Amino acid sequence: MSPSTLLATQPSFWMPVQASQNAAATDTLFHFIFYVSAFFFALIMVLMIWFVVRYRRRRPDELGTGPHHNTALEVLWSAVPIGLVIAMFVIGFKDYMRMVGPQNEPNAYEIGVLGVKWKWTFTYPNGYVDDALHVPVDTPMQLTLTSDDVIHSLYIPAFRTKMDAVPGRYTKMFFRATEPGEYTIFCAEYCGTSHSNMLTRVVVHRPGEYEKWLEQASNFLDRMSPAEAGAKLFTQRGCGTCHSVDGKPGTGPTLKGVFGHDVALTTGAKTLADENYLRESILNPQAKVVAGFEPVMPTFQGRLKDREITAIIEYLKTVQ
Ligand code: CUA
Repeated sequence: MSPSTLLATQPSFWMPVQASQNAAATDTLFHFIFYVSAFFFALIMVLMIWFVVRYRRRRPDELGTGPHHNTALEVLWSAVPIGLVIAMFVIGFKDYMRMVGPQNEPNAYEIGVLGVKWKWTFTYPNGYVDDALHVPVDTPMQLTLTSDDVIHSLYIPAFRTKMDAVPGRYTKMFFRATEPGEYTIFCAEYCGTSHSNMLTRVVVHRPGEYEKWLEQASNFLDRMSPAEAGAKLFTQRGCGTCHSVDGKPGTGPTLKGVFGHDVALTTGAKTLADENYLRESILNPQAKVVAGFEPVMPTFQGRLKDREITAIIEYLKTVQ
């Protein structure tokens, strides 16, 4: 079954599917503003072209004396636009307050969001971290966002919701997903080279399925071999956005064939890439920087558990 057949609402010509509680109101306001703007654009263009022709330059004896003043017309063209922009403000403010107001969702289910160049990670209440957002349907959700480096922006078009992830502070996003399915998440704030690849998805689970997914996803370290779990962590936690495993250099050195070999450092020294070196480079990346690369890797201190670091090292042993 394709995702679209699961959906009660279909995407329109202009808009993606409406998959959250505030999507319909947001679209209504958008269409109101859009069609008002389109109407006045057309009106002004037609009048402009007509006036250009009607009042084009002529010989002085052809010019009559035009009207100086028309009170009814001036009141009309002031009052109508004022009424329209006040309506836009009132509707928009009400929608916005409903969208951001935590007072409406005091028992929201909270998921942590971290933006880093160039990966989104989501921390679930039991401590599990995934690179996709999973939510139960029809449940008030609160995302608490932050960033490790620059400003990113979590944008879910199907939910008509977007919020900046700012380094050094927390921002919040509230929504309630209304349609089970999968939707794209973008980064909507230009954040460097791979900004446009900072994509992931939100999976909206049917009632009861979210809890099963979380339990299954959380115990991957018990289910998988360390090297398999390490491969999963390598992708999910964003190692692969900077380090290739096929020999190509990226923002960081490739990790293909690194384990068990000497690596040249910026200091001119060489060091053997063993378990301790890899562990140190994950927890304190600036301690020994590989020659030819900038010391730009963030620390994973506090973000990876010992068992997860061991799994990643086991995985790196396999990429030879
Ligand atoms: Cu992160 Cu753009």
